[in-house]
Amino acid sequence: MNAPSPLANVLDAALEATVVGSFTRVGYAARSRLDGWSDPTAVAGRTIVITGATSGLGLAAAVRLAALGARLHLVGRSEAKLAHAQAHVRLHSSSEVITHCCDLSLLRETRRLGETLVALATPLDVLIQNAGALLTSYTPTSEGIETTVATHVLSPYLLTEYLLAHGGFAPHARDITVTSGGMYSERFNLATLDMSPTTYRGTVAYARAKRAQCVLIPHWQRIYGSSGVSFHLVHPGWAATPGLSSGIPQFERVTKALLRSADQGADTMVWLAGTSLDPAPGRLWLDRRPRNLYRLKKTRLSISEEIAAGDTLAQWCKERVEEVLSD
Ligand SMILES: NC(=O)c1ccc[n+]([C@@H]2O[C@H](COP(=O)([O-])OP(=O)(O)OC[C@H]3O[C@@H](n4cnc5c(N)ncnc54)[C@H](OP(=O)(O)O)[C@@H]3O)[C@@H](O)[C@H]2O)c1
Repeated sequence: MNAPSPLANVLDAALEATVVGSFTRVGYAARSRLDGWSDPTAVAGRTIVITGATSGLGLAAAVRLAALGARLHLVGRSEAKLAHAQAHVRLHSSSEVITHCCDLSLLRETRRLGETLVALATPLDVLIQNAGALLTSYTPTSEGIETTVATHVLSPYLLTEYLLAHGGFAPHARDITVTSGGMYSERFNLATLDMSPTTYRGTVAYARAKRAQCVLIPHWQRIYGSSGVSFHLVHPGWAATPGLSSGIPQFERVTKALLRSADQGADTMVWLAGTSLDPAPGRLWLDRRPRNLYRLKKTRLSISEEIAAGDTLAQWCKERVEEVLSD
């Protein structure tokens, strides 16, 4: 990508100021034309793991990355859906596509996935932590953790920490986490992250978990960035996927005409996975540009609060994970 023109910068800022203009297909269409996007050039031969690869954004990313020559590891929780995703990806490419069945709401299964990935002959160049779901009712896992927190916060924490501790990443690997614009409504507060059955509301639990991701990823960048591994957050915009239909059907009905395709929603994760540029680490990306972590004053943390929140959240994750795994 060439440096954006001043006009592209002005129009991008105007879109970003309006949530609808930025998050919908309008934002994607304008930005992709203004900045003259082309496919990332450094994908071929990279070993890339995608979680939640059986549907929606993860599957769309898999198709594009395979077509660009990546060696893919697709992670899903259903053998049948994985077989379908693998066959679908192979329609578009002859690249290597391996599948791993793992319920990422379960920490023991996540650790097993970590062990499998570490045992690969080639360390990972890219990990895309994309699996996620918005659950309308309180659902504890068989390990006793609320599923939203388990899937979006504790499992990604465990997988990344495991890979870092066991040499699972290549020297300049990228660890990419798919968050959501839903997090803009929530200020990070560890005391309210893990909701109780009586206070649980699906959209709030989801937004808080996605906000927690936005605390953890900059924390990782601060403490592990010097290792060469870089950490990135992606906001995909609003995209028509099975997850959006089942999680927030009313929202889908209202915004249907404006939603991005899954491929458009997956574009920035594909770009981050394979750009030959060095994307600024520890940042949130939408449409191939870094974005602010805050839109509302009431959710804003100062730099020192962000650092303290990252330390506290990481410590909390460590303790919760150890509690379950030592059982
Ligand atoms: N679509 C949007 O507009 C949008 C906006 C913001 C953020 N996001 C985020 O983007 C990511 C992908 O969402 P999507 O819209 O593509 O939804 P999707 O179509 O439902 O895809 C979600 C993927 O995650 C997998 N998954 C969910 N829970 C899992 C678990 N416990 N273990 C293993 N895999 C699990 C799903 O597997 P199954 O196929 O078995 O269900 C599926 O492959 C999510 O993190 C979501 O929060 C989406």
